[in-house]
Order: sequence, then C-alpha cells, then structure tokens
Amino acid sequence: MSAKLIKGTEIREAILEEITKEVAEIKEKHGVVPGLVTILVGENPASISYVTLKIKTAHRVGFTEIQDSQPVDISEADLLALIDKYNNDDSINGILVQLPLPKHVNEKKVLNAINPDKDVDGFHPVNVGRLMIGGDEVRFPPCTPAGIQEMIVRAGVETSGAEVVVVGRSNIVGKPIANMMLQKGPGANSTVTVVHTRTKDLAAHCQRADILIVAAGVPGLVKPEWIKQGSCVIDVGVNRVGEKPSAKDPNKMVAILKGDVDFDAAKEIAGSITPVPGGVGPMTITMLMRNTLKSLKFKLGIA
Ligand code: GUN
Repeated sequence: MSAKLIKGTEIREAILEEITKEVAEIKEKHGVVPGLVTILVGENPASISYVTLKIKTAHRVGFTEIQDSQPVDISEADLLALIDKYNNDDSINGILVQLPLPKHVNEKKVLNAINPDKDVDGFHPVNVGRLMIGGDEVRFPPCTPAGIQEMIVRAGVETSGAEVVVVGRSNIVGKPIANMMLQKGPGANSTVTVVHTRTKDLAAHCQRADILIVAAGVPGLVKPEWIKQGSCVIDVGVNRVGEKPSAKDPNKMVAILKGDVDFDAAKEIAGSITPVPGGVGPMTITMLMRNTLKSLKFKLGIA
C-alpha cells in the first residue's frame, strides 16, 4: 500500500492564505502590518536564494520588508550596531540574520544581540529557554520544527501517547522538535526518543516509532526495514546528490535532492510520509512569516 503524501507545498499555501487574511484584518483595525528585516552578509549563493524567497513570501502576505545586504568584510562591531538599530526600530517586528556568517564574525554574539522579542528565528537563548518551559511561555518556536509539528497535526496524525523517534540532535531541528513533541498540549504529549551518531542500535529505535522524524543530513540513511507499518515519516533531509538539467530550461543545471529516508521503499510501508523536495522544506519560510505576524500581535497585545 502506498502512504499518504504530506505535501508541504499544499500546507504552505493554506497557511500563507490564513496569514494574508489576518494581516489584512490587523491593517484595517490597527493601521499597521508586520515588518521583517533580513540581514544578508556576503554573497553566498544558497543564502541569496533563501533570502530572496523569504522576501518574496513576506511581500505576498502583505508585510513590509527590508533587505539589508552587507559586504562580506563588515566588522562584527558594525553588524552589532546594525542589529541595535533594528532592535530600536518600531516598524520592525522580526529580525533575521541569514546564516552562515563569515568566519571573522562571532555568530553566537550576533544572534544573542537580537532583541528576543524580535527573534523570529527562535535562536536566541531566551527563546530556547521559553520553548523548553513550554505552554504560554513559548514566543517563537524555531521555524523548521514548527513546520514539522504543523504538518503532523494537519495530516491528522495522533501525537498524544505516540512514540516519536527523532534522528539527529542539532540545535536547529533535532533538539527543539524533541522538546516540542513532549510538551503538554495539542499536537504534542508524545513519548520522545532522540537518537544520534553514537546510538547503539538506530534501527531498533526507529522500528518502534509511530512518528519518525529524521534530520540527520545523511542521504538514504533510514532503510525501509527500519520503518513501522502505518507510521508517519517526516524527512527533514535535503541532500544535494548531483545535478540534472532543469525541466523549465534544459540549458540550466539544477540540484538533484535526496532525503534522509529511502523514499520509494518507505512509502510502501509508512501510513504517511513527506516527500523531498516539497515536504518539510516549504514549511520553514512559512513559519517564519507566522512568527513575524505573532511578534506584531504580541506588541499589539492581541496574541
Ligand atoms: N540559514 C539556513 N537556514 C536558516 C534559517 O532558518 N535561519 C537563518 N537565520 N539562517 C539560515
């Protein structure tokens, strides 16, 4: 039997529609729209393409948006001063510093300089702490984990009491999604196991999972025999495994993307599964928009 596909591209459209509607209502009632600034240092092609998409999406949902591009040799002090400027700018609700930063800049210092109430990435230690406490304390759940949880809920998968196994322990995906799934509340209440490179028997843990979330960055790591019949499989891996001519323009080469799960075999066993591409990927920017809207709502006292 073939699994139900959980399509991030479709869920994205539904959520962006909801955000657009809410932005219009707030504009009408309060005369303001969310403001997002994206700070891009240097000209890393992947970062440029991420930021371009973030800006396009912000426009689409009716935000005001500033793209602040800085030269690769900007000093750390100048970057910190720039963040301070946006921290004090009333029209800005979300500040995003695109990562990675050049080596001469201390990434931690820069992220920690962002006002936690404008930290729509959810990377500031204050927001990590708020997430850990859970419930009303949570301000900005980090975007990829928030997207994963939203997909699970919208796919109608039961999370309460479910065995969730997370493969990977990164600060951006593994640790926060594990924490979110074990909290009390809707879309959570799960029993969570986190497995990683030092885990003795990866297969045995994965085989117990009602919900398997894989963020390892290893193409095809999860084999079909690791998957429990009828389970929900969320593949966060986006691995470039080669190039192929673009379908739109055959003279242009595009990346061949492969997930961390052997998709073709896994879809015959799982109950539901995310594809790569078109699964978790489109959700990250969507949740960034939601966090920026939430930031304005907090400011207006309507969150
Ligand atoms: N670089 C790659 N992904 C991200 C992200 O989610 N946020 C930021 N700030 N930089 C990134």
